[in-house]
Amino acid sequence: MPDEVRYALASVDHAAELSRLEKLQAINDPATLSRLDSIGIGPGQRCLEVGAGAGSIARELARRVGSTGAVVAADIDPRFLDDFDGPNTSVVTHDLSKGAVAPADFDFAHCRALLAHIEDLPGAVRNLVESLRPGGVLLCEEPDYGACEICDPSHPGASIFRFYLDGVLGGDRMDPYAGRNVHAAMREMGLVDLQSSAVTEIVSGGSFRAAYRKETMENVREMAVTHGTYTEASFQELMDCFDDPSFCYVDVLWVGVWGRRPEGETNV
Ligand SMILES: C[S@@+](CC[C@H](N)C(=O)[O-])C[C@H]1O[C@@H](n2cnc3c(N)ncnc32)[C@H](O)[C@@H]1O
Repeated sequence: MPDEVRYALASVDHAAELSRLEKLQAINDPATLSRLDSIGIGPGQRCLEVGAGAGSIARELARRVGSTGAVVAADIDPRFLDDFDGPNTSVVTHDLSKGAVAPADFDFAHCRALLAHIEDLPGAVRNLVESLRPGGVLLCEEPDYGACEICDPSHPGASIFRFYLDGVLGGDRMDPYAGRNVHAAMREMGLVDLQSSAVTEIVSGGSFRAAYRKETMENVREMAVTHGTYTEASFQELMDCFDDPSFCYVDVLWVGVWGRRPEGETNV
């Protein structure tokens, strides 16, 4: 992520960012929980949650592994995880782009909505794999903007929304194809029993999902206008799409990929 975007996001008001992260959790937790069921997270396991955000999945992992297991929640900015420290839970400040949290330590590692924002996605996947013991499972869940589309190209909001999508698809703010790229990176790393599933939805302006995207964009409004990417008026036109129930789009495809580090492997 360019430094400028990182600084813009770091300065976002605490309550506003918490509200945005809670929406992200509400949208994505059902798919994550069903993947945790498929993988079989249970008592006694050691789990790692990286980029834990507001912490819903770290808390769910702690519930599943119980008092005989352990959960480490890692984040470059763990400001919403103050209450997570406990007898078998801990919080670490960690930048995944710099290395593994702890080598070969975990039965399970998870991240969501994180790798799309790290410049070297394959390197970050390597750091996650390194944190697994041989036989441990990695689950990565990332957005893919390739399927995102306006439902009615003749809608008055269509051209500003097209401009927004083209900016995401061609910009350097994030990897718009992180969903498919994470699959490629995990395959390259030699993970076995690789599986994936993906979900999306048709979103109407005024809905909960539209509010999440609007709040995400609000975080970069000032930067986008200062840079001249948008004028105040064109940015507002985009925001209005997210409030307009007659405007619909196919949302981001949320891709989940999971696989196992081969048994007997000591180095990645
Ligand atoms: C979009 S939020 C996703 C939060 C959570 N995973 C979820 O899906 O609800 C991204 C999180 O990753 C953290 N993050 C960003 N870059 C990071 C990095 N290089 N290493 C570790 N955490 C990072 C942010 O501080 C933020 O909490």
